[in-house]
Parts: sequence; structure tokens; C-alpha cells
Amino acid sequence: MDTVHDPADLRRACDAARARGARVGLVPTMGALHEGHATLVRAAAERADFVVVTVFVNPTQFGPNEDFARYPRTLDADRALAKEAGAALVFAPEGRAMYPEGDETRVHVGETAAALCGAHRPGHFEGVTTVVAKFFALAGPCVALFGRKDYQQLKVIERMTRDLLLPVEIVGVPTVREPDGLALSSRNRYLSAAARQSALAIPTGLSRASALFAKGERNAGALRAACREPIAAVADSIDYVELADPDRVTPFPDDARVPDRTLLAVALRLGGARLIDNVVLGEDRAPLEVP
Ligand code: PAF
Repeated sequence: MDTVHDPADLRRACDAARARGARVGLVPTMGALHEGHATLVRAAAERADFVVVTVFVNPTQFGPNEDFARYPRTLDADRALAKEAGAALVFAPEGRAMYPEGDETRVHVGETAAALCGAHRPGHFEGVTTVVAKFFALAGPCVALFGRKDYQQLKVIERMTRDLLLPVEIVGVPTVREPDGLALSSRNRYLSAAARQSALAIPTGLSRASALFAKGERNAGALRAACREPIAAVADSIDYVELADPDRVTPFPDDARVPDRTLLAVALRLGGARLIDNVVLGEDRAPLEVP
């Protein structure tokens, strides 16, 4: 498995792969890879012959008081995991290579990016879509895989790809969880043992709401309260616990009757980390069995 740092080398490698009849699979990441990423790479290898993993901590998707500086950078371990999972190439550019001197152009995002994380992290999705559009421009026609843990990100990228007529098939891959239900995340590394234990309130909340939903509850306020209660008991602060349309990512007010397929998404701060998680009620299994 090769590692390249120059965008021109990524473009050359993907062009060469297609020229010999291979399909290119792209797994964009910010590194600090874990089993969730390995699942993305393996899913890419099932759909493509030449799998590329990008490792780039993208500065434009972080707010001024966020964790860009301390985000874990573990390229050697990332390379080993990517290789083991079936990647053919790692692309690990420097910041200047992705944002050349004088850079000023950004992707403009719309309604799908407005609520939930979009409301709490101004500019975040503009930064995500801008860097992903650059990866797509370098990789060319391909299949690109993203985790459903970042559900709103997946929907925003799907919309960008459709709106900008990009030659990329987007595949969303189910969230990978620890046996106790916690969703895998690079930011779990920030958690102390005690904070990690507290974080189990997230799968508990999602699962309680899933159980109510399975029994027929459709009131947004009741579902939200069931999810929020265990989380509020441990979180330092809650950014949101929202029920939303799973395609448009537009939230339902508490007095709404939600449809049979509804996104339930949460974001909170706990022990120095910002954690997010979600389930699509009516579609995803609950993270935990709850009585
Ligand atoms: O999900 C991530 O790791 C990032 O947001 C992405 C898609 C690699 C863009 O920087």
C-alpha cells in the first residue's frame, strides 16, 4: 500500500486505476482511524477494486474554539489500519496542498445543513463539503463511503453530490458500536474512564426512544423527552436532542406527530469531548435492548 501527499499523485493514481478497468473507492477521513473506519474501508473494497483512504484534519470545518489543534494525528497507525482493511492508497496531504495560498472558494450549503450540527457549528458543513468536493475532484468518478454516525454530514454530502452533478456514488455505512452500545468515534479518545461510562447515557437515551417508537409513540416531544432524560443526567451541556425528517434533516416541533421513519439525533458535551449519535427510528436497530 502506498502513501502519497501530493494531490497530483492522488489524481494520477486514480486515473491509472480507471485506465486499467478498476473502480475507485474513496473513504474520506480525518485520521485517528478505528474499527468504524475499517468497516468503511472493507465496505469500499466490496464495491471497488482500488480503495483510497484520505487522512486530512480539515481546518475549515472546525470553529475557532473547537479541537482542531488537539485532534489526534496518528498517520503511522492509520496507514497500518487502512492497509489491513484493504486500502490500496493513503492520501495524506498538507494543509497548503488542499488550500493553496490565496484560497477563497467554498461550497455553499443549504437547508439540509441548517439545523442540528449546522446550527451549533457555524460554517462546519461549508468546510466539510468544500474539502470533500476537492477529494472528489482529485479522485474522479468513484464510489465514496461515509459513516451514518455523521448522519447529517452524509445527507449534506449526498445533496451536494446531486446538486453539483458530481460523478460519485455516495454510500452510507451503518454506525459501528462497542458491545455496550457506545458509537465508535475518534473523539472517544478524549474521554476519561468515568466520562466514557457516563457516555453510555447516549445509547440508553436513543434506545429508550426507539422502544417507545416501536410501541407506537409518534409524539415528537414524548420521544425527545425519553431520549433526553438519561443524557441530561450526565452531559456537561446538550447541543440538541432532535427529531427530524431523515432526508431533509428539518426538525419536528414537540407537538408534531412524526412519520414512521424519523431521524433522532443528539449532540452533547461530556468530559471535554463533543459527542454525536443518532438512529433513524423505523429503520435502524436500537443501540441497546432496554426493558
Ligand atoms: O467525517 C469526517 O471525518 C470528515 O468530516 C470528512 C468527511 C473526512 C471531511 O473532512
